[in-house]
Amino acid sequence: MYTALLDEAHHAIEKTLPERSDDYRLAYHLAPPAGWMNDPNGLVHFRGEYHVFYQHHPYSPQWGPMYWGHAKSTDLVHWEHLPIALAPGDPYDRDGCFSGSAVVVEDTLYLIYTGHIWLGDSGNEEQGIRQVQCLASSNDGINFTKHGAVIEAAPHPDIVHFRDPKVWQRDGQWWMALGARLGDDPQLLLYRSQDLYHWDYLGCALTGQRETDGYMWECPDVFTLQGREVFLYSPQGLEPIGYEHWNRFQNGYRLGRLDETGGFTPATDFHEIDHGHDFYAAQTLLAPDGRRLLWAWLDMWNSPMPSQAHQWCGALSLPRELFLEGDQLRMRPARELTALRQSGQALTIGSLEAQSQVLDIRGALLELEFGLELTGSTAERFGLALRCSEDRGEQTLVYFDAMARRLVLDRQHSGAGVEGIRSVPVAPAQTRIALRIFLDRSSIEIFVDDGAYSLSSRIYPHPDSLGISAFAVNGRGIFKEGYAWQLADLKL
Ligand code: FRU
Repeated sequence: MYTALLDEAHHAIEKTLPERSDDYRLAYHLAPPAGWMNDPNGLVHFRGEYHVFYQHHPYSPQWGPMYWGHAKSTDLVHWEHLPIALAPGDPYDRDGCFSGSAVVVEDTLYLIYTGHIWLGDSGNEEQGIRQVQCLASSNDGINFTKHGAVIEAAPHPDIVHFRDPKVWQRDGQWWMALGARLGDDPQLLLYRSQDLYHWDYLGCALTGQRETDGYMWECPDVFTLQGREVFLYSPQGLEPIGYEHWNRFQNGYRLGRLDETGGFTPATDFHEIDHGHDFYAAQTLLAPDGRRLLWAWLDMWNSPMPSQAHQWCGALSLPRELFLEGDQLRMRPARELTALRQSGQALTIGSLEAQSQVLDIRGALLELEFGLELTGSTAERFGLALRCSEDRGEQTLVYFDAMARRLVLDRQHSGAGVEGIRSVPVAPAQTRIALRIFLDRSSIEIFVDDGAYSLSSRIYPHPDSLGISAFAVNGRGIFKEGYAWQLADLKL
């Protein structure tokens, strides 16, 4: 019966593949073969391989009853798609296998996820929902057996939003973090277990307030980095303040201290972890070499998703290495990603005086590494125009805005559907901005000053919009010499 459900989903994907159009298809980012993808789930290293699961709707490129899609890799670069790992349909996960995490015990891989049930008959939240925490396991890392609900009810009768279990080991026990909503306030709840099957409620580790913290914290992750504790989460309901919180929902962190009794005492405010248009539901894993790696959903709820017309939708960010610099959580692209580099060439622009210059580098799959010299530059703004067309007016701009003193990503003309500007601050004392940019067919990820900031967004230029120009407006812009690599088309 359960196998039949998985087979049916697999056939739906197989049937859709010939209809898929690949104009926006990503070359080296994980995306579903067909259908819909949202959050990364169950990030884990198991028997020498990285496993990434994801929220998946195999039957259409729209969100629907959630399955867990699955892929694995030995090197974080080349990924193999595997059969769908979880299908909903049992009484405890009737309407969806929502987000969750994975752990390894001896030779068994466990998945811990939220079983979602619509109480009405229409998939309408107004009619009520029920969320429980469920367990599944596998001995081969491919075929999973569901064990049902292991936490059947929220600790308070008024909590209905109660999801996204993140399980980790601490002092020889299993700890679980859950996001919840009590009334209009968000909560971080903690449970503890010896065996993954029986869980004790430890308490509410942290409560937020609607006005300042949003109404729900989705996808919590709690981990130690460089001796400090990080609470990473995806708050819903934050209002924009200045340049912050411009997306529909946010993704960020607070540093703090998690004590033995399960209280989290924050030491910092909430800070967004990425500043692009499309970055949500990030989760981490601890790699065998001690690195803390992160993936996020490289999209945002309610964003335009033009690839839906092409029978697929959603992608994961590049894997990133996390580190702390003071109180700031920073991200660098995983070092393995240099394996994507094919032919390279110097990126030599020099100084531009109020002009634009077409470069001899073109492409949709590129890594660019270069700098913007602020000392001696007088331009109001200067930077690069990427994925430019000759006649369609398409371009994606990455530039320094001297008046605002910010590094800007502008996708007002980045092709189908998308729009908007995002930016990060440039410190008054800073004399240079170092940039590392990854372009894929429908994405851009910008790492600023060795990971001090990142901006990650989807763009949907025409496949022929491949040009790059450098520009300086109203004055001189000085570019520090860099390098450009064409990247491999892995057809993930
Ligand atoms: C976050 C989220 C999770 C939930 C999942 C459902 O994007 O809303 O809270 O488990 O997506 O697909």
